[in-house]
Amino acid sequence: MSARPLLIVILAAGKGTRMKSAKPKVLHEVAGRSMLGHVQALSSELKADRVAVVVGPDMDNVKAEALSHMPDAQIFVQENQRGTADAVLAARPAIAGHKGDVLVLYADTPLTRSPSLEAMRAALDAGAGVAVLGFEADDPTGYGRLLTSEDGTLLAIREEKDASSEERQVRLCNSGVMGFRVDDLAALLDRIGNDNAKDEYYLTDAVELARADGAKAAVVTCPEEEVLGVNSRAQLAVAEAIWQRRAREEAMANGVTMISPETVWLSYDTEIGQDVVLEPNVFIGPGVTIEDGVNIRANCHFQGFDRKSQAGLIIGKGAEIGPFARLRPGAKLGPGVHIGNFVEVKNATMEAGSKANHLTYVGDASVGEGANIGAGTIFCNYDGFNKNRCDVGAGVFIGSNSALVAPVSVGAGAYIAAGSTITRDVEADALAIERAEQAVKPGWAGEYRTKMADAKKR
Ligand code: UD1
Ligand code: MG
Repeated sequence: MSARPLLIVILAAGKGTRMKSAKPKVLHEVAGRSMLGHVQALSSELKADRVAVVVGPDMDNVKAEALSHMPDAQIFVQENQRGTADAVLAARPAIAGHKGDVLVLYADTPLTRSPSLEAMRAALDAGAGVAVLGFEADDPTGYGRLLTSEDGTLLAIREEKDASSEERQVRLCNSGVMGFRVDDLAALLDRIGNDNAKDEYYLTDAVELARADGAKAAVVTCPEEEVLGVNSRAQLAVAEAIWQRRAREEAMANGVTMISPETVWLSYDTEIGQDVVLEPNVFIGPGVTIEDGVNIRANCHFQGFDRKSQAGLIIGKGAEIGPFARLRPGAKLGPGVHIGNFVEVKNATMEAGSKANHLTYVGDASVGEGANIGAGTIFCNYDGFNKNRCDVGAGVFIGSNSALVAPVSVGAGAYIAAGSTITRDVEADALAIERAEQAVKPGWAGEYRTKMADAKKR
């Protein structure tokens, strides 16, 4: 691979009006990460030496997103949207100071894969001054057409609005991804004019200009789905579907069983071990790690990542989760933990072999090894102002329908009697029982029935 330094310029200035959204288009998410974040991740895979992001005016949120992924990214503002060449020139300081290859990517095209871009770099290695990532479009309407000679040499890119009817027949289209290996890219782009149907400065005109200077132009092709550009919510959903299909295929190839793959939703950073079984209808948000041999039963929701606490969620080896379980940020489940139906766990560590099998809330807590949390137990962690913690020791047995009012601790091996509301610490191996004494009145029910039936007859 090329030893020349690589600068990647990501165009993210478009408002994306067709999204009908208060937030800029490139902040919309695919698999739990912004489209911009996906393109930045691709730039990292390519080991770009520098990354420049071109944003529109008043896009501080796009700038912040870019810097959150890459603190050393250079951000430039394109004041007026005057075309793709003008957008690249907004990053002029980065380009001028760069000796090496330049790749231009669009931030609204989140599905491109690194081998396609490696192939672009290889084309530059092989001596091309300009390389274009092209694809055979099912329907080429709207795309720039790649005009090639008999031997496949790229001659020019013609935008649809400027193309002749013959040129419009061409199905080989420009994805928008372009690569440059020229001495002075800024000088080349400065020569681009706007004498065209849209009065815009077209980056694509660089092909003809570079060729006129004696440079070679090359086309590298990739599958159409890699260069799907997102302009609307419908296209966002298409991109999501493609991303999910790929991620499921990859997970299954790595030893994950999915009974109904199309109903399982993964995130960009989901980590799943071998011999994990995912039953239908499972949603896995960002920041989730699932270790080997875990069974996830149907209809579970895992919301793994919390920006504020930066906490993720871990499901340890051989754990049994669901059906209908909800795991939230900061849940750390040890090996063999059982979480059953209608159980919610948040910001809590549950050690190996502990169980909460039915209708329970475990929040802001630690639960020791082998502890058994009975049906309907609630960890009352919130007093309306603050969150407080519950500590439950190893081997504790908590009877059904108990409430632990935090802050409170239950020592190892203790028993909590069913229905108790625990407000004071319980020492190890003790029994805590908090309920009114049971009264039994023999024969009462029969007398009551007779009395009521007689009264009704009258
Ligand atoms: C562009 C290409 C076309 C290609 C198509 C692929 C040009 C002239 N045409 O056309 O050959 O087939 O993409 O989708 O390059 N942008 C800016 N500032 C601007 C203009 C655009 O940042 O001033 C950004 C947009 O936000 C977008 C990208 O650049 O992400 C492409 O711009 P767009 O207007 O969509 O170009 P197309 O007409 O689709
Ligand atoms: Mg476009």
